[in-house]
Amino acid sequence: NRRVTVRDLALAKERGEKWPMLTAYDAMTASVFDESGIPVLLVGDSMGNCHLGYETTVPVTMDEIAMLTAAVVRGSSRALVVADLPFGSYQEGPVQALRSATRLVKEAGAGAVKLEGGERSSEQIGLLVRSGIPVMAHIGLTPQSVHAMGYRVQGRGEEAAQQVLRDAKAVQDAGAFAVVLEMVPAGVAAEVTRSLQVPTVGIGAGAECDAQVLVWTDMAGLTPGKLPRFVKRYAELRGALGGAASAFAEEVVSGAFPQGEHTFE
Ligand code: KIV
Ligand code: NA
Repeated sequence: NRRVTVRDLALAKERGEKWPMLTAYDAMTASVFDESGIPVLLVGDSMGNCHLGYETTVPVTMDEIAMLTAAVVRGSSRALVVADLPFGSYQEGPVQALRSATRLVKEAGAGAVKLEGGERSSEQIGLLVRSGIPVMAHIGLTPQSVHAMGYRVQGRGEEAAQQVLRDAKAVQDAGAFAVVLEMVPAGVAAEVTRSLQVPTVGIGAGAECDAQVLVWTDMAGLTPGKLPRFVKRYAELRGALGGAASAFAEEVVSGAFPQGEHTFE
């Protein structure tokens, strides 16, 4: 029972088979998704928003990513576990990127890392790949740059579309095994998908990508409030979990829980 490899994902593209990726931040949800056959689990720095209570992904640290990556690895046995390099852990250059990625692979057990940026990150990607660490790239909207770009669709208009294509080519040339396209017009994502040999993983990038990723708390309906247009909610966990908590609270207050069956004589 071996884990999914980057080679399996390359073969899937050759065969025209699409695949799903979900984020995971702890061992228990990782085991659920692993048992459900999700082939790739992303320990995303979206943990900043949905697990650690930060407003953005910017404050997430290496220690936080390493701890939760180790948990996801322990909770899964088949999925390829991809760990995000957090903001500030690779921007200084290839050597810093290698030090950070090495820690996530060696100490936390990640099978690959992901970092943001196309042309601007290609030297980092090159050194990691030459050092034996598979890299998933991430272009289009890159949330670690929120203070510079906001949360807006990227690649609208001819010039911006050409930049997305150049970024995609640059990360493929640098050796990335896949590339996330976030909030890119569907037509641009389709063109990138056709022109690359490596798989594209879309989030808000239309139906033509080779794979699709969602943040698990979004797709399971745990995240509160209005969600971006590209999210589909496949469950209503917030209501279900809140209902369980209120039912427990009510039964404790009323004395209905525990009963004899829950009690040691
Ligand atoms: O951190 C994350 O969850 C991500 C995905 C949305 C691609 O980077
Ligand atoms: Na991320």
